[in-house]
Amino acid sequence: MGKQKIIVFSGAGVSAESGLGTFRDSGGLWEKYNIEEVATPEAWNKNPEMVTEFYNMRRKQCYESKPNAAHFAIAKLEEKFNVEVITQNIDDLHERGGSSKVIHLHGEISKVKSSGPNAEKKYFHQKNWEVKIGDKCEEGYQMRPHVVWFGEAVPMIDEAISRINSADIVIVVGTSLNVYPAAGILNYAPHNAKYYLIDPSEVSVPSYFNVIRDSASKGVPELVEKLLK
Ligand code: APR
Repeated sequence: MGKQKIIVFSGAGVSAESGLGTFRDSGGLWEKYNIEEVATPEAWNKNPEMVTEFYNMRRKQCYESKPNAAHFAIAKLEEKFNVEVITQNIDDLHERGGSSKVIHLHGEISKVKSSGPNAEKKYFHQKNWEVKIGDKCEEGYQMRPHVVWFGEAVPMIDEAISRINSADIVIVVGTSLNVYPAAGILNYAPHNAKYYLIDPSEVSVPSYFNVIRDSASKGVPELVEKLLK
C-alpha cells in the first residue's frame, strides 16, 4: 500500500502569523485598498505605477517574512505521506518551510512576467523586492507581477482539480473560501476522504469537516502530530 495522499489547501491565514496580511479579516488588505485600484487588469492599464507599488510593498514584506510553525509542520507531513500543497497565496513560505510540491493558484509574488500579449509562459524570478517602471521585457512591454488578478484566468485550476480528486486526506487552512474558482476545488475531492479545517474564525464548511477552531501555528502542528503517529 503506497503512502496516503494529503492535499493541503491554504489561504492567507496560514501566512498571517508570519506577518503577511489576510484580505477579509478586520484590518485586512481589502479594507486598506480597493481591489479595483490594485488587483485588476483595468487597474494595471489605468495606473501601472500604483499596481507596481502595491505588489512591491507586498513582495518586500514577503521577502522579509519567515515561514511559521504551520508551514514547517505541513512540510513534516512528507515524512509519511504524499503531500501536495494547493495554495491561493502568492508568497513562497510553503516552499521556504520545506514543502516540495506546491501549486500557486493565484500566482507568485517572487516572479514577474511581461505585460505584453501571450506572456503567460515567460516569467522570471524577481531577485530583489522592487520592480521599477521601465523594467521591460525584450519586446518592450513593462514587467508585471506573475499573479492572477480578479477577472483573469486561473491557469493552474485544472492541475489542482486533477491533484485533489485522489486525496485521502484534505486539510483546509487559513482561507475564508470566498473566492472562486479556487474554493471550488473542494467539490472535486473524494467524498470518502477525511476533511479538516483549521481556522480561528467561523468558516462555513460541510458537516463532514473536522473543524479545528485554532490559529494555523497551533492547530496545524497539533493535527500533523496526530497524523504522523
Ligand atoms: N491562522 C489560521 N487562519 C487564520 C489566521 C491564523 N492565524 N488568521 C486569520 N485566519 C483566517 C481567517 O479567519 C479567514 O478565514 O484566514 C482566512 C483569510 O481569509 P481571506 O482574507 O479571505 O484570504 P483568502 O481566503 O486566502 O482569500 C482568497 O482572495 O483576495 C483574493 O487572491 C486573493 O488569494 C486571495 C483570495
